[in-house]
Amino acid sequence: MVEWLKSAVFYEIYPQSFADTNADGIGDIQGIIEHLDYIKELGCNAVWLNPCFASPFLDAGYDVSDYKKVAPRYGTNADLRRLFAEVHKRDMHVMLDLVPGHTSWEHPWFQESLKPQHNEYSGRYVWTDDAWKDFEGISGTMGFLRGMSQRDGCVAVNFYSHQPSLNYGFYEINDPSWQQPMDSADALSTREAIKDIMRFWLKMGCDGFRVDMAGSLVKNDPQQEGTIALWHDFMQFIETEFPHAAMISEWGQPDRSLRSGFHMDFMLHFGPSHFTDMFHKDDPYFSRDGKGDAKAFIDYYKKCYEPTNGKGMICVPTGNHDMERMTKWLDPAEVKIVYAFLLSLPGAPFIYYGDEIGMRYLADIVSVEGGYHRTGSRSPMQWNEELNAGFSDAKAEELYIPIDPDENRPTAEKAVADPDSIYHEVKKLIQIRQSTPVLQSEAQISFLYCEDHAYPLAYRRTNGEASVLVVVNPSGTEASFAYDGQLGDVLYQNGGDYKLEDGMFRIPAASAVYVWEKK
Ligand code: NOJ
Repeated sequence: MVEWLKSAVFYEIYPQSFADTNADGIGDIQGIIEHLDYIKELGCNAVWLNPCFASPFLDAGYDVSDYKKVAPRYGTNADLRRLFAEVHKRDMHVMLDLVPGHTSWEHPWFQESLKPQHNEYSGRYVWTDDAWKDFEGISGTMGFLRGMSQRDGCVAVNFYSHQPSLNYGFYEINDPSWQQPMDSADALSTREAIKDIMRFWLKMGCDGFRVDMAGSLVKNDPQQEGTIALWHDFMQFIETEFPHAAMISEWGQPDRSLRSGFHMDFMLHFGPSHFTDMFHKDDPYFSRDGKGDAKAFIDYYKKCYEPTNGKGMICVPTGNHDMERMTKWLDPAEVKIVYAFLLSLPGAPFIYYGDEIGMRYLADIVSVEGGYHRTGSRSPMQWNEELNAGFSDAKAEELYIPIDPDENRPTAEKAVADPDSIYHEVKKLIQIRQSTPVLQSEAQISFLYCEDHAYPLAYRRTNGEASVLVVVNPSGTEASFAYDGQLGDVLYQNGGDYKLEDGMFRIPAASAVYVWEKK
C-alpha cells in the first residue's frame, strides 16, 4: 500500500464551482490554491480534482479533447504545477481525474479515426467494419454513433453520444472480422497512450488518479476479467515507475477492482453496493424516521471486504458530483451521525466539497454541461456573506451555476464560527480518527449488530493492540443489542449517554458513540 494513503482523508473539488479568482464566473486553479488552507484546517490532507483538461465541456470535462493541457478557463499547465507544489508544501497530496475509457468527439485522435483512409488512429476507438453493424448487447458500451463520416462503420460510445469508446480490445470475441483482441496492436497502442498521459502528470508532481468508469474499458467482458487483467498491467506500470502514486477506481465493485491492483475503490450510487440505502434516498438508514435498512449495504460491504482485506481500500464517500447531496433527505443533526459512521470506517474517507458545511442539493435548476439532475450538487461553494457567497466577483447571471438562493444557506464562514455546525463535527471526527490508529484505514472492522431494517448498527475496529466499539443509532427511538464485552472510556459521543445493563447495550435516539473496549 502506498504509505501516504494509510492516513489520507480526501476532499473532492469540482473545479468549476470552488473559487473564481478572475471574475469570469467559473472556478479556477488559483482559487483552489487560495483555499488549500481551509481544506487543511478541516483536517483533509488529500484532494481529488475533477477533470481540468481541455474539453468542449459537454460533460463537465469528462469529454477530454487534450489530455495534456489544462483547460484555459482554469488556468495553465504552469498553474497546475504550482498547485502541486502548494499542496506538497502543506504536506498534502493531490489526485487528478483520468478518463481512459473515452475522449470527446473533438479529440484529434477521434477526428483522425473518422477518416475512411486507414491511419494511425483508425483502431484507437471501438469501430465495427460496416455502418449497419452496431453494438447491441455488447457490455461496456452505452450506444454508438452511425453516419458521422465516410468511414464505413459504427463507433461505440461509453456514456453520452459525444464520448466515443477508446479501444482496449474485446474479452469475448463473437465476430473476429472487427472485434479486436486485447493484445492487438491497436489495443496495446491505446494502453501506451494512456500510460504516456499518466506519466506526463505524475512527472509534473501529481500524486495519482481517480479513474473514471474504470470497469468498462474492455468490451464484451461481462464479468470484467479482461478489464481486471488490463488494470493489472496499468498498475504494474504505476508500481514500477511511480511507486508513490495512488490509484482509485470509479468501479463500485471493490471485490473486482481491488483484485486488479487498484489501491482503492468507491462504494457508489450505482451497481450492487446499496450505497444509496444509507443516506441517499427516501427513508435512508440515517433518517430519524427509523424506517431504513443498512443490512443490504453492510452485507455487500462484507462480501467485498473479506476477500480484499489487506489488498486495498473500500472507500465510502459523502457524495460526489454525480449524486444528489445527502441534505436532500437529511437535516444537520442526521448528517452529523452520517459522519460519525463514515469517519470510523476503514478505507480513506472522501468528502465532497460543501458537504462539510451541509450545502443543499438545488433541485429544479437548469442543467449545465450535461449535468442534468447532477447540476443541483455542483453549485458554487458558499464561502461567506459577500457577493455571490464569496465564490466570484462576476455578475450573478454570469456564474457557471447559480448560487443557492436561500438566504439561510450555509457558508464556510458561518460554519467555522458556529461550534455546533456540521463543519465542527467533521473536523472533530477527523481529528479523533487521525489521532487514533485503530480508527484508521488499515485497522480491521467486524460487524457486531446489523439486522434487517433494525437499529442500531454496531461494529468493532481493532488492530491487535486496541479495540473500539462504534454504535450508531440514527433512529428517533432508543435501540439496543446484546453485548458481552467490557467497555472503557468514551472516545466520541454525539447524543445521549449509552447504558450497558444485563448484557444489553442501549443507545438513546439519534446518537452515535465510539467507546474503547477492554481486553
Ligand atoms: C463518471 C463521472 O463521474 C461522470 O461525471 C461522467 O459523466 C461519466 N463518468 C462519464 O465520463
